Amino acid sequence: MRHHKLALCAPHYGEWFVVSTQRAIEKYKMFTRAERVLVAVSGGKDSLALWDVLTRLGYATDGLYVGLGIQGELAYSDQSLARIREFQAQHVPDATLHIVDVQETYGKTIPEIARASSRGHGKPCSACGLTKRYVMNRLAAERGYAALATGHNLDDEAAVLMQNTLHWQTGYLARQAPVLEAGEGLARKVKPFCRFYERETAAYAMVRDINYVYDECPHAVGNLTNFYKTLLNQLEAQSPGAKLQFYTQFLKARRAGFFDAPSSDQIALRVCDVCGQPTTAPGRCAFCRMWDVAAPPNDALELGNALSAQDAWTAASARVAENMDLSDL
Ligand code: AMP
Ligand code: FES
Ligand code: ZN
Repeated sequence: MRHHKLALCAPHYGEWFVVSTQRAIEKYKMFTRAERVLVAVSGGKDSLALWDVLTRLGYATDGLYVGLGIQGELAYSDQSLARIREFQAQHVPDATLHIVDVQETYGKTIPEIARASSRGHGKPCSACGLTKRYVMNRLAAERGYAALATGHNLDDEAAVLMQNTLHWQTGYLARQAPVLEAGEGLARKVKPFCRFYERETAAYAMVRDINYVYDECPHAVGNLTNFYKTLLNQLEAQSPGAKLQFYTQFLKARRAGFFDAPSSDQIALRVCDVCGQPTTAPGRCAFCRMWDVAAPPNDALELGNALSAQDAWTAASARVAENMDLSDL
């Protein structure tokens, strides 16, 4: 670890990694041992390592996998689920794994719904991001989990930060944080690995013998996030620690109020006419519009139920860019 000027053997590396995660959980007040945490697992190294570490730290965790129906030459979704099942059997046999397969639940795979809704200009990533965020939030909130944890690492966070900074997206910058508090119908979202470099989570997965999906989603190849990651890697090579500095100094500025959103950004939140989930739009939420879920009879749900201003802001903070490629869960 060049930026920490540390050299550790495998067992000590594992220990350092676990202790550092605990420190991040406490520093950002993510959750306690009395709370239940839902870990969103994709089958990649970050989320499987996260489930492993939280279990070793004694947190009460369950997993959630969203089956996207993305296959191709790599049989990406099948492979992801196989790695997750294998991991669960070996590392967290007592935990529950929730599986929501979008085709079984909503009738189409992600590539099919992306084509049918013509969302994302030929790329399914936007439809995918919206669906994953919706399913994760809904399951976490409805099943009473105190927090939804994702495996986002420093490389992910720095790439999103760079994108948002280059476009001075102050609204998104205000909402980029290790913890997004819960609101009415919205689960608390936490990113315990946000200060780990991607190579550090990969090293942990290796040390713990975690077999994960090495390939990334075939649709992610060559996307904008990867372009920013490459730029940041060049910067890091010249100046070790630059990525961490970029991100942590941003968090400091954010805490100091530099990115507080103006009041006009505080969007009133309503409940979706169809599914009852929080939404900024009147009528159907973006998910129901995309999946074209028919509206129920008018008396089936209370319509246009505006939430309080405080809930609305907390909720709006949690609902990030539905149309952006760099969607941040
Ligand atoms: P990504 O946006 O693919 O970089 O994923 C970021 C995080 O989102 C991962 O570390 C997981 O915690 C979560 N995630 C991504 N894809 C899935 C999925 N299909 N099912 C459950 N969680 C996922
Ligand atoms: Fe969603 Fe690639 S399109 S993971
Ligand atoms: Zn809805």
